[in-house]
Amino acid sequence: MASLGQMIFYSMVALICLFTAIIVLILSLSLSKPSSGALSSNTKLVANLGEDEILSCYLHTSSVEDVFSEMSVSWEKKELKGLVYLYENGAPQLRDQASQFRGRTQLFPETVARGNASLLLRSVRSSDEGEYTCSISSEEGGGTVRIYLRTAAFSAPTFTLSNGTLAAEASRWYPKPNVTWLNQTGSVLNGRTSFTKDSKGIFSIVSRLQPAHVSEAYSCRIENNLVIAVAKATITGTGVLWRSSFSFSVASTLLASVNLNIMTIVLCIYYVT
Ligand SMILES: *[C@@H]1O[C@H](CO)[C@@H](O)[C@H](O)[C@H]1NC(C)=O
Ligand SMILES: *[C@@H]1O[C@H](CO)[C@@H](O)[C@H](O)[C@H]1NC(C)=O
Repeated sequence: MASLGQMIFYSMVALICLFTAIIVLILSLSLSKPSSGALSSNTKLVANLGEDEILSCYLHTSSVEDVFSEMSVSWEKKELKGLVYLYENGAPQLRDQASQFRGRTQLFPETVARGNASLLLRSVRSSDEGEYTCSISSEEGGGTVRIYLRTAAFSAPTFTLSNGTLAAEASRWYPKPNVTWLNQTGSVLNGRTSFTKDSKGIFSIVSRLQPAHVSEAYSCRIENNLVIAVAKATITGTGVLWRSSFSFSVASTLLASVNLNIMTIVLCIYYVT
């Protein structure tokens, strides 16, 4: 049985932990809170070279029925002469658009009046990397959001099995990634990986694992400093089944603050028990 002293000690520790968690929560909420009415679902983006990307920017609304009048939207890129995009008086105004973005950008006109100023950027190039500012103004309010765009090439691997060798092939990766094979228990296995670089500097990858056994599952992880692809391949009697997922190493500020909170709570639980 714990003595009264111990019980008081543990309740004090628990209280201190609770207050710390609350303070961290309040701090992180106030830090991640936008200073204006404009928001973005992702302010740190990794775009896939050659593909289209949406840069998210919209006004905070209290209901889906909210309508904004006299919406004007401007998209600018740091250190760029000219605009990325301008929408004013109910129409695009592209006289001062930088040539790099000519014919490659658009808003979603049918949703602009509802405060959605997201920008579609077609066929992303490495020169699109940088800091973008989305500014919205309307009769009902406005705001500004900054978005950081990085570019990479990434594609999910496909698998084949022949003579006890499991091969993973991924056609487009940049920067050059590394490939790690793991078994079901997470031990690293020895694979052989070869890279081929095309004229644009993009790598295609073939990685082979031998021996690979029937009814075993293997993970193949392809990773560079921006993107991680994890594929889980299971060898069945008749072939290979697999599933892939991507994650991006540029965490959003919101995620970072959530992690901080979880860390605090975990630390406290560790203390109390
Ligand atoms: C804005 O429009 C884009 C394109 O239709 C869509 O992907 C995005 O979810 C919209 N954002 C909001 C907040 O409605
Ligand atoms: C693979 O690359 C990532 C990012 O560049 C690096 O953090 C990681 O340590 C590398 N892993 C191996 C096994 O080399």
